[in-house]
Amino acid sequence: MSATAPHEFTGQTALISGGASGIGLATAKRLIASGATVWIADIQDEKGEQIAEEIGATYVHLDVSKEADWISVVELIASQGEGLNLLMNNAGIVIGGTLETQTAEEFLQTTNINLLGVFLGCKVCAPLMTISGGGAIVNVSSIWGMVSDSGAVAYSASKGGVRTMTKAIALDLADRGTHIRANSIHPGFTATPMVEDSVSEMEPEEAAQFAARTIERVPLGLGEADQIAAATVFLFSKDSSFMTGSELVVDGGFTAA
Ligand SMILES: NC(=O)c1ccc[n+]([C@@H]2O[C@H](COP(=O)([O-])OP(=O)(O)OC[C@H]3O[C@@H](n4cnc5c(N)ncnc54)[C@H](O)[C@@H]3O)[C@@H](O)[C@H]2O)c1
Repeated sequence: MSATAPHEFTGQTALISGGASGIGLATAKRLIASGATVWIADIQDEKGEQIAEEIGATYVHLDVSKEADWISVVELIASQGEGLNLLMNNAGIVIGGTLETQTAEEFLQTTNINLLGVFLGCKVCAPLMTISGGGAIVNVSSIWGMVSDSGAVAYSASKGGVRTMTKAIALDLADRGTHIRANSIHPGFTATPMVEDSVSEMEPEEAAQFAARTIERVPLGLGEADQIAAATVFLFSKDSSFMTGSELVVDGGFTAA
């Protein structure tokens, strides 16, 4: 092991949903640097194709809320004879809303991607991962899966679901002797298009109020996508071999206060 590449993934294949941007993309880069074969799956096809070519990954279209899409992606990976060892269920959206303003349609749209999408990813990928000798799943939750904000009703529902569902999945995978571990990661405020776009869509006063009760309160300031990627790679690595059903909070100290 060298100082620059502490984890070694040569011979392992990874699938990252929402891998065309932000945290997923940063994780893809780290895994590739450590020897993994990486598939990035997203709905942003043009951007995804271009980025995959740049970083040495393979791009595939996947809407995580559609079971048929997951089945096609897994069949495609299996047809390459590579197997599948590492799964990052990372794709997600945020639609801000309070109890008063959040609509049922927004709630379902959010949970279909952020929660159902994670369930389908685990369910459809686990058989291929099992016959590939096992591996690890990282489900991307959020600090809003542990604590919350008045304007994140649907998002918190989805991320809280990911937190506890991951424990059920981890136990099932262990009970069945699959050699697949599953953990959730809980990023805090991280500079990605998700945060930048949601703040830029707010009225100036709303954006200032949001920043004052969130980003400006983070002891270590705004995080970088690569800081979340580093923790994700740890959860994929042998260094976390005794962790399953766990929650890893990477939030610059926000939830410590
Ligand atoms: N950035 C943060 O501060 C933060 C904090 C906590 C948790 N998270 C979580 O991290 C994950 C990654 O977010 P990010 O910050 O990198 O945002 P991002 O917007 O940069 O990336 C999200 C990616 O998901 C893709 N995506 C959206 N809907 C999809 C669908 N139906 N099928 C497939 N792909 C889809 C998008 O196209 C995009 O490429 C999300 O689950 C998010 O909730 C982010």
